[in-house]
Amino acid sequence: MSNQYEVLGKAPGPEELKKLASGDSHVTIKKLSAGYGKMEILHDFDLFVNKAQSLCLIGPNGAGKSTILHSIYGFTNIFSGQIEIEGKEITNLTPAEKLKSCGIAYILQDNSVFPDMTVEENLLMGGFIKENTDESYQEAERIFEKYERLRNRRNQPAKVLSGGERRLLEISRALVMKPSVLLVDEPSIGLEPRYIDMVFEILRDLQENEKKTIILVEQNANRIRISIRSNSNCW
Ligand SMILES: Nc1ncnc2c1ncn2[C@@H]1O[C@H](COP(=O)(O)OP(=O)(O)O)[C@@H](O)[C@H]1O
Ligand SMILES: [Mg+2]
Repeated sequence: MSNQYEVLGKAPGPEELKKLASGDSHVTIKKLSAGYGKMEILHDFDLFVNKAQSLCLIGPNGAGKSTILHSIYGFTNIFSGQIEIEGKEITNLTPAEKLKSCGIAYILQDNSVFPDMTVEENLLMGGFIKENTDESYQEAERIFEKYERLRNRRNQPAKVLSGGERRLLEISRALVMKPSVLLVDEPSIGLEPRYIDMVFEILRDLQENEKKTIILVEQNANRIRISIRSNSNCW
């Protein structure tokens, strides 16, 4: 399924969103009002995303796209409304609780690798809140098996990575916690064009083969539609 809505004037209402999700919703937002401090940025916002579906938020700067991801992850003040994962209410959990018990990961935007730490150390930082560090090591191994670009640089400081490899490391670091929902804010920002398709291909693989549910903000929405062809909604 692939649909694109123009944000201005044609954003889908809750009923249309439910139809696009066409099944049991994995991430559900109901009538959410949220913002920063006392300032309300989102008003009565609804969203439904199915398991292994990807949904791309597009819109002008300042429209509140990042605020939607921040609210799901727990970085905003929530005034009213609900956020649910598989029908279970998680509205007021902390980010650490969301990562640990609900499988929600937020992929930090740009420049969040530690340049003087090795690629492996950076990757293991993704599991810092896990009680069982063996699990982080196991997951890191699986990631190194999968991504040769990281494997080859495993023991080198992260500053030697190219822009695209850094973005791959940022995404992979989130994967160490084995999340089921990935919140991705503008993954192509600051990347050279040749790396942009690589990043979208990685996200497509995570959706199709690892069945991750992906909510992303991305200006290059048309490019994503080419990369993430099936089972995706853009609006
Ligand atoms: N940490 C913050 N504190 C206060 N206001 C913020 C903060 N982050 C964003 N805003 C405000 O929230 C509004 C929506 O911003 P944002 O969600 O970042 O938009 P987008 O990602 O669509 O460009 C803007 O008016 C912005 O100034
Ligand atoms: Mg933003």
